[in-house]
Amino acid sequence: MPRGKPIDPSPANLIKPAASLAELRAAIQSCRGCDIWQRATQAVFGEGSADAEVMLVGEQPGNREDIEGHPFVGPAGKLLDEALAEAGIDRSRVYITNIVKHFNSTTRGKIRIHKKPNAEEIAACRPWLEAEIARTAPKVIVCLGATAAQALMAPSFRVLRQRGQMMKSTLAPLITATVHPSSILRAPDSESRHAAMKEFVADLKNIARHLPASALKKR
Ligand code: URA
Repeated sequence: MPRGKPIDPSPANLIKPAASLAELRAAIQSCRGCDIWQRATQAVFGEGSADAEVMLVGEQPGNREDIEGHPFVGPAGKLLDEALAEAGIDRSRVYITNIVKHFNSTTRGKIRIHKKPNAEEIAACRPWLEAEIARTAPKVIVCLGATAAQALMAPSFRVLRQRGQMMKSTLAPLITATVHPSSILRAPDSESRHAAMKEFVADLKNIARHLPASALKKR
């Protein structure tokens, strides 16, 4: 084997140029590009229409997503669905995925605790996201939270200061970032949670203004 070639199944040998999203979703289950897979139940690939106008990118699957095998089906996903509906974005026109496709965790007793992926893990997983972008060609990529924004926009990106800024990108005609929905769930009381949700919906409404009518809910 030539030196420097990955030995374990990794994006370099699993991503076939002509593979469809469905074929990639099957292939990623063998990925050993980093070691997060050892702690996860399965890889959670993105979901949504291949001709979606908007791609939402979170950090990594959570506990629920890891068990069910689908992105954003836990509490943060429910809140996201509500916010999209309120902002008038048609959920069926959205492709939703994560920067890292396995749930990274540490254990405390019997409980699995979310652990932020490190730069190497993010880099190892990036070809999967690039393959998703290449196949969906979204008009707008929306980074949900700092991990996605710093990976896809700039390492110095500060979500609280720069949320809502629309930028040009080599990944898509437009890219922007807003908070991660789980940050709203962590708000200390119902008043601040309500305010955070209102700002999140305002960011999504602004994104909706950049989308074609086909991506918006018929009123
Ligand atoms: N948080 C994420 O970033 N992604 C998910 O899929 C679920 C929770």
